[in-house]
Amino acid sequence: MPCLPLKRFKSRRLTLSPESDCARDSSSLLATDHNRGRYIKPMFDFWQSLLAALERIAMLPSLIQSVFPSLPSRKHVRDAVRTYERTMDDLLREVQRLLEAPLEPAKLLHMSGKLQEQFTPKLQASDICMLPSYNHKLPSGLEQGTYLALDVGGSTFRVAIVELNGKGQSAKSMRIVNMKSYKIDNPVRHLQGNAFFDWMAEKIETAISDPQVKQINGTASLPMGLAWSFPVDQTSIRTGNLLAMGKGFRATEGTLGQDLSELIMTPCRKRNLPVHMESIVNDSSATLLSRAYEDPSTRFAVILGTGFNIAAHLPVSALATSKYKGYPQKWMNEASHVLVNTELSMFGKNVFPTTRWDEQLNESHVRPDFQPFEHMISGRYLGELVRLIIVEGVRTAGLFSGEIPDKLTEPYSLETGTLAAMEMDETKNHTNAIALFQSRHPLSKPPTYNDIQFVRQVSQLVSHRAAAFLAAGIHSLWNLRITSEGLTPTTAGRLAIGCNGSVIEKYPLFRDLCQSHLDELTTASGAEPNSISLEVAVESAIFGAAVAVCCLEE
Ligand code: GLC
Repeated sequence: MPCLPLKRFKSRRLTLSPESDCARDSSSLLATDHNRGRYIKPMFDFWQSLLAALERIAMLPSLIQSVFPSLPSRKHVRDAVRTYERTMDDLLREVQRLLEAPLEPAKLLHMSGKLQEQFTPKLQASDICMLPSYNHKLPSGLEQGTYLALDVGGSTFRVAIVELNGKGQSAKSMRIVNMKSYKIDNPVRHLQGNAFFDWMAEKIETAISDPQVKQINGTASLPMGLAWSFPVDQTSIRTGNLLAMGKGFRATEGTLGQDLSELIMTPCRKRNLPVHMESIVNDSSATLLSRAYEDPSTRFAVILGTGFNIAAHLPVSALATSKYKGYPQKWMNEASHVLVNTELSMFGKNVFPTTRWDEQLNESHVRPDFQPFEHMISGRYLGELVRLIIVEGVRTAGLFSGEIPDKLTEPYSLETGTLAAMEMDETKNHTNAIALFQSRHPLSKPPTYNDIQFVRQVSQLVSHRAAAFLAAGIHSLWNLRITSEGLTPTTAGRLAIGCNGSVIEKYPLFRDLCQSHLDELTTASGAEPNSISLEVAVESAIFGAAVAVCCLEE
C-alpha cells in the first residue's frame, strides 16, 4: 500500500515559509489537496450530502441573507485598525510544531511503552478499567439464530431483530431484519435512575409491536443481547453491575451498582413484554465479536466516535486472578482467553504531551483527567480543540479579521462533523467550506479563503495527532497481547482490528493515517509489514449484541 497519508504528514511539515501568510498557492495546500483528491474514498456520503446542501446555499448568497437577516447589524464588528501580536502564519506554525512534534515514530513508541507501564497496575486491580467479561470464546462464524439486539449508544437507542445465518450460506451472514432507532436527546439523557430504564422498556415495546417482528417471533419470548456503550462490571454473561456512565447520562442516579439486566427487565416484565436478557457486553466487545464472526483473525476492536474504547481478546493470565473474583470454577477451568473491555480512554495522563489547548479543555471539563486519552482523540473533543485554537487565533492573530464567529465562544459549539465536511471540500476556492462555516457560525462578512484555510489546516493537524496517538494506543495493547501470549513481534502473525464509530469510519483520512503510523510502529518493533489491519465493522454494535447471544448457545 502506498504510504501517502504519511507523505501528506511529511510534506505538510515543510509547507509554511516564513514569508507566506497562509498564501493560497502555497505548496502545502496543493500537495494536501492533491493527495486528498486521490485518496478520499467515496465513503463519506453523509458529509457529501451535507456539502451538497450547502453548495446550494453558496450558489444563492441571498438565501444566506434571508436565513441570517441580522448579519449586517451584528455587534461583533471587525476591528480594521487593530494590530495583533502575531500573524496567522506564526500561530499556524506554532500549532503545527506543537501538534506534530510528538508524532515521530521514536516518540510514539516511547508513549506506547509508557502506556504499557500504566496498564500493569490496572491489570492487577481496578474496578473501572481492564474489565474482564464472561465471554471467553470468539464465534466460529457458523452460529445461526434470530435475536433481539439492543444498542444503547451516546445519542441513539436501537432495537433490532438480527438474523445470523453463518458464513458460507447463500443468505448474508448477518442481517438486520427490522430496526428501530430512538434518539437519546438531552431530556432522555437526563432521565434519572429507573426513569431511563422505563423509557428503554417503552421503546422495546414499540419496536416489538411491529407486525413484522410479531410475525417472526409468534408468541415465543425473544432472547435479547445488549451492547452498552458504558463500562459495566460483569457478574455473569447476562448480568453486570452498573458503573458510572459519563456522556451526560443520569441513569445511574440511585441505581449505581445495581444489576443492569434487572434494571431493564423489571419494566419489561411490568409491560408483559415477551423478552428475556441473555447477554450484556460493552459496545467495544460487541464490535470485536461481530467482526470476529466474519474474520477469525480479529483480536481487537476500536470504537472511535463520540467516545473511545478498545476491546481485546487476551489470555486469561494477562489479568490478575483477583480480577476474576466470583467467576465459577467451571469458567476458570474452561477459559484460555477472555474478552477484556480496556476502557483505554482512561489511560494516557502524563503519557501524551499536552498543549495549552488540551490543558484548557481538561480544566473546564466536568470530569478533568477522567478520560485523558479520549479528550485528545474522540469526536466529542476534536471540534472543541480546534475551537479553542480558533478563539485564540481571532484574539491574537486577527483570524476572521478579529471577529468571533457566532456561538464560538460557547464550549463544544464547533462540531467535529463540521470540520470533517470542511476538510472534504475539494472546490478550488473552498467555496463549500466557506458556506458551511458561515451557515453554522455566521460572521458579519463571510470568512475569507485564508481564514478557512487556517481552520482546515488546524483541523488536519488536530485530527492527524489523534490518529497517531490512537496508533500508539493500539501498539501498546498489541505489545501487551504479544507478551502475554508468549510471542514476539516476529512470531505474532496477522491481527485484524474491527473499527466502528463516526471518526474512525468517516473522518477524512483518519483510518489511513492511523494505519500508516501503526505500520511504522509495528515494523519498527520487528513485526512483518502489514501485520495489523484496521477493518471497518459496519453496524457492529447491534450485530455484536446478537453474536454475543449466539456464542452462548453453541
Ligand atoms: C466511553 C465509554 C466506553 C465506551 C466508549 C465508546 O469511553 O466509557 O465504555 O465503550 O465510550 O462508546
